[in-house]
Amino acid sequence: MNMLGNNNELKKEGQLNLDYDKLPQHIAIIMDGNGRWATMRNMPRTVGHRNGVKALRNIIRTSSDLNIKYLTLYAFSTENWKRPKSEVSALMKLLIEYLRKEIGDLNKNNVKINTIGDITRFPENVLHEINIAKSLTNNNNGLNVNIALNYGGRDEIVRAIKKIGQELLTNNITINNINEELINNNLDAPETPDPDLLIRTGGEYRLSNFLLWQCAYTEFWVTDVYWPDFTENHLIQAIYDFQNRNRRFGGL
Ligand code: IPE
Ligand code: IPE
Ligand code: MG
Repeated sequence: MNMLGNNNELKKEGQLNLDYDKLPQHIAIIMDGNGRWATMRNMPRTVGHRNGVKALRNIIRTSSDLNIKYLTLYAFSTENWKRPKSEVSALMKLLIEYLRKEIGDLNKNNVKINTIGDITRFPENVLHEINIAKSLTNNNNGLNVNIALNYGGRDEIVRAIKKIGQELLTNNITINNINEELINNNLDAPETPDPDLLIRTGGEYRLSNFLLWQCAYTEFWVTDVYWPDFTENHLIQAIYDFQNRNRRFGGL
């Protein structure tokens, strides 16, 4: 049974009357506010991250139940290495734990796991779990979850330009072949359409280097709610608001 059908919390869904023919195809989320969530409770920041994983589990399940096609989740940015070593390694540990614990259920639910970002910088044990998750779910055709790890929009564009430069040097392409499509094809998830909706929790009105190229015409939705407190009701509210936006793409 679809979890949306028998959850009391989700009465709101009925009130909000989502239009199931106009769901966003791709939702991207900046999962921010874990640290503040914990600090507010006089707890170490890592407790916030741990509770953030619970929210993550819930949002992946809800997105899958709603038949959303693509979900891109900002988990670790190229700038997050600036944080204390202890916090970075706690995040790595959580990622391993999450993948180990959840991959079976994700696979059963037909979720396909992918990553964006330069994961070569991650330790061997993290890479190992990521590779298992990717290969186990590779043939699934339900919800596509892209986890952004050591991801930066600028870094992604730089790496794309390097690949294109290589093609030029080896005369596989000429300058005239460089267009938006070619650039897109050299980004980290070329088969994923641009996000329709970008959600940011934690109240900041900025991109923080997330999906710079892809967000050209994405609708933004920001909430003050910290990520560990983000529920399916918030997700449904965001989708509802999205459905009432007027996307013009520069036209009339
Ligand atoms: C987001 O929460 C999670 C990561 C960046 C890994 P933060 O850790 O940034 O939490 P705040 O913004 O400091 O509250
Ligand atoms: C963005 O949050 C990165 C992730 C959610 C992984 P940050 O907390 O790193 O962003 P800033 O520092 O507030 O811009
Ligand atoms: Mg933050």
